[in-house]
Amino acid sequence: MSSSAPPGAESPRPAGAEPFSILAGEAPEGPRDLAEEIKPVVPAETPEPIDEGSSITLQEVQAHEGVQTFISLADRYLGELGYTEHGFRHAGLVAKIAYNVLHRLDYDDRMCELGAISGYLHDLGNFVSRTMHSQTGAAITYDLLRDIGMGFGEIGVVLGAIGNHEEQFGQPVNPAGAALILGDKSDVHRSRVRLTDPTLFDIHDRVNHAVEHSFLRVDSEARTITLELTIDTELAGVMEYFEIFLSRMVMCRRDAEFLDCQFKIDINGTKLL
Ligand SMILES: [Fe+2]
Repeated sequence: MSSSAPPGAESPRPAGAEPFSILAGEAPEGPRDLAEEIKPVVPAETPEPIDEGSSITLQEVQAHEGVQTFISLADRYLGELGYTEHGFRHAGLVAKIAYNVLHRLDYDDRMCELGAISGYLHDLGNFVSRTMHSQTGAAITYDLLRDIGMGFGEIGVVLGAIGNHEEQFGQPVNPAGAALILGDKSDVHRSRVRLTDPTLFDIHDRVNHAVEHSFLRVDSEARTITLELTIDTELAGVMEYFEIFLSRMVMCRRDAEFLDCQFKIDINGTKLL
């Protein structure tokens, strides 16, 4: 009868033999001090981990082939799904508004630039899918920004901003994110409507088409951020506007508060909030 162990059974170790884990490497001289070996990352002293000496600009981000390709695809695919414009116009405008909001509120230049970069990249994930586009966008943006040479601290700020911009689950977590959302949610304008035949408009098209002018006014003295809209009420009523934008406006109020400001809305010269 054979004396070998059945398949799967542990082989008996010859007496005196070392366990494999020790044979594979140096035998430890004494108990390991993991607290010594795993040094904790030193927490950032500033509220946001801005990388010393970083100078990656929005222009450098815009020039990246992946950024250009993915924004272009996101816009094209959203068009296929019947959404309004989400391409270079929207990306550029949100970047500009985010930068201006932070600049007017006296944030330092680097945070303003990160707000602009976050704003430019925020909708890029839509080329993967509309659902959870803020998360897919943030994940893809990580590689793009590393490729450009941005440090982890600043990438963290940008990804936190992008990953939190959807109203279903987004919350402002840093100034760049709060400014991005204000820019994004306030971009309501007829130039975003792709359809030319008004009989085919849905409520989003109708409301966007009715907005002739939109402007986000920042008063740094009064600490107010006001969305000023001029709406053609023949094309869409103010109630219709609120029907689809109420959740966005609630989000804008939270973002303004994050920036230590009050959010206001002015439609056709009437202060509604
Ligand atoms: Fe957007």
